[in-house]
Order: sequence, then C-alpha cells, then structure tokens
Amino acid sequence: MIVDGKTSVVTGGAGGIGKGFAEKLLARGGRVALLDRDPQRIDAAVEALQTGDDPLVGIVADVTDEASMRSARLAVESRWGSPDLLVNAAGLLIRGVPVVDFTPEAWRALFDVNLVGIANSVRAFLPGMLARGLPGHIVNVASLSGFLVVNRRIGGYSAAKFAVVGYSEALAAELEGTQVGLSILAPGLVSTDFYVTSAERTNGLNLPGRLVETPDDIRSAMKPAEVAEIALSGVERGQIYIMTHRGLGETLADRHTAVMRGLPEYNLPERSF
Ligand SMILES: NC(=O)c1ccc[n+]([C@@H]2O[C@H](COP(=O)([O-])OP(=O)(O)OC[C@H]3O[C@@H](n4cnc5c(N)ncnc54)[C@H](O)[C@@H]3O)[C@@H](O)[C@H]2O)c1
Repeated sequence: MIVDGKTSVVTGGAGGIGKGFAEKLLARGGRVALLDRDPQRIDAAVEALQTGDDPLVGIVADVTDEASMRSARLAVESRWGSPDLLVNAAGLLIRGVPVVDFTPEAWRALFDVNLVGIANSVRAFLPGMLARGLPGHIVNVASLSGFLVVNRRIGGYSAAKFAVVGYSEALAAELEGTQVGLSILAPGLVSTDFYVTSAERTNGLNLPGRLVETPDDIRSAMKPAEVAEIALSGVERGQIYIMTHRGLGETLADRHTAVMRGLPEYNLPERSF
C-alpha cells in the first residue's frame, strides 16, 4: 500500500517511535491521529509536529482500556472515517528483573500494554478498515526482543514481545485474502524516552532490582524518524517482517538454526504438524 496522503492512527503516538511515524506520515501529505495515554506528551507532540493547519489530531486513549479505544475510534471516524494505516506503537518495558522474580502483577502490566493493548487497538479499528473495501495496513511494533532474548535484563519484556510476534503472525494469516495487510516492526535500540516513561509507569510494582536508568548508548542509537522511514518503505513493499538493525543478524540466524537442529531425524507418521 502506498502510504502518501493516507489517514493514519498511531498508538503511543506522543512518544519516540510513534511520533517518528507521525512526522513521516505528515511529511508524506497524510492525516494523523495520535493516540496516547499521556495528555501532556500529546500536547507537546502536537505542538512540535503541527505546522499551520496540518491534519493532525491528538486523542487521549489508553490501549489497555477497550472502552477508551472505542471512544478513540469514534473520534477518528467522525472526523475522517476509518484509517488506512494503523500503527500500534504503545509499549512498556521492565528491565533488570529476572523472569523468576516477576510477580503476576508485573506480568499482567507487561502483557496488558504490549499484547492486549495491540489486540484492543486492532479490535477497535480493524472492522472499519475491512468494511471500506479499500487497501489498508496494520503495523505492530514488536522489537528485536520479540525474536531473540537479546540480554538477560529484559527477559520479561522479551516474552511479551514474542507474544506480539505470535499474535501478529496469527492475525496476518487471518487477514489473508482481505485488502488489509500487516507488518511486524522489530527495531533494535532506538533513541527515545522509553526507559524513562516505562520506569515511571512501573514504579508501583515493587520489583527489587528493577533498573530505571537510561542506557548510555541511547543517544547514539537509531533515531525514531529513521525507524519510521524504514518501516513505511517496508509497508509499501508489503513486508511482513521489518527489521531495522542488522547488528544481531547472525545471532538471529543461529537461533533459527538451533530450532531446526531440534527437528527429529526420523520421519514421524503423517500428521498435520
Ligand atoms: N526505544 C527502543 O529502543 C525500542 C526498541 C524496540 C522496540 N521498541 C518499541 O517501540 C514502541 C514505542 O516505544 P518508544 O521507544 O517510542 O517509547 P516512548 O516511551 O518514547 O513512547 C511510547 C509511548 O506510548 C505511550 N503509552 C504507553 N502506554 C500506553 C497505553 N497504555 N496507552 C496509550 N499509550 C501508551 C507512552 O505515553 C509514550 O508516549 C514500544 O512498543 C517499544 O516496545 C522500542
């Protein structure tokens, strides 16, 4: 799908990668609804991105709350109709806590934003996108951590992002034969406020050992607008997997080789799988 001049909804749109998408989509003549749970960040993002009468609107919405997403859908549809492009970028990170020390509450918090949040957003916007009978596209922002346990400090986050990848592959299969496509965006480190926003929101979880400081290499990491540009090119090429960082390519290949090595050497009786 060509993204120029289209209508887009971006969750987590007031933050780094979501805001990067908004910037690039506006530059391509599109209309953008930024959905975010944080009203102050929305105001700041709209002020930063608005030039003249840009077709940009900020809507306070929490992806973990189905009713809030329904209201956001009504707000977007009454203004512009159903979107052509839905970018699900809202996310949450917990760092420094071994998975054995995760409390049920911490697991719920991680999965609620990263997985259920995407599913809620899709439930809100996909029916309208399908009903239009026009090409549309969904971008689910996973992470390289959705394909690899990149380091042991983010094991729980990795589990949630693996779930995002599994959910997205299932949805892509269900969307086959429709006009709505799907891409999984899997960036490595990106220079955003993710470590700060996530730390703020997980303060109440009482997780000893949780790391709250931003990694030193964040400032030299890839910029959100660059990630968004790569992603939009991937959408236009109809890529299901959009990987932005080559650095761990060999580790990724090794993982898949290890999985293949786990296949039995003997032939199983005929089974569906
Ligand atoms: N920054 C990285 O290094 C990196 C790498 C790979 C993937 N990602 C993923 O990219 C996505 C965006 O992260 P970012 O780095 O731009 O972070 P960010 O904190 O700058 O932006 C995330 C935005 O999501 C919003 N948000 C959080 N919970 C929400 C909720 N429940 N409802 C609505 N909005 C909510 C926040 O207010 C924030 O504005 C996340 O899914 C993250 O997992 C980030």
